[in-house]
Amino acid sequence: MASTRTQSIEQTLTIIKPDAVAQNMIGNIIEYFEREGLSLVAAKMTHLKESDAERFYAIHKERAFFRELVEFMTSGPVLILVFQGDNAVVRVREIMGATDPAKAAPGTIRADFATSIDRNAIHGSDSLKTAKSEIEFFFTPQEIFSRTQG
Ligand code: CMP
Repeated sequence: MASTRTQSIEQTLTIIKPDAVAQNMIGNIIEYFEREGLSLVAAKMTHLKESDAERFYAIHKERAFFRELVEFMTSGPVLILVFQGDNAVVRVREIMGATDPAKAAPGTIRADFATSIDRNAIHGSDSLKTAKSEIEFFFTPQEIFSRTQG
């Protein structure tokens, strides 16, 4: 029987982290999302400054791993992406796999490309509310090219 769930078209932020960029895995990673029907609507390559990474990850500032996280995220260029699609926030997180690659399901991005919980290849927004603020952190509305289809 067809599902009766109404579609919820969402946008969510992902960051291809310095380890995955250095491994030349950008195209491979985008493919994981596109083949699941998510559409890329914004993209920006940048090398985060220390102050950017500290602000972006401010929620983790009391955690023991915070300095290491900021150091890693500023160690090389990153690719910042916005994906759009039905239920995009949850689906992107499923496609990425668990934060710790040792716990990530086979076939997920982190299982395939991450080497440790610190160097875990990709970031994805953890809720719709976070997605909105993370997208606004990096993109103006004019830099987002919403799709009416796909
Ligand atoms: P990310 O999704 O970018 O959000 C915060 C990051 O902190 C996380 O991915 C991990 O790469 C990193 N991190 C390092 N240690 C931990 C930990 N013990 N728990 C959660 N995140 C951690």
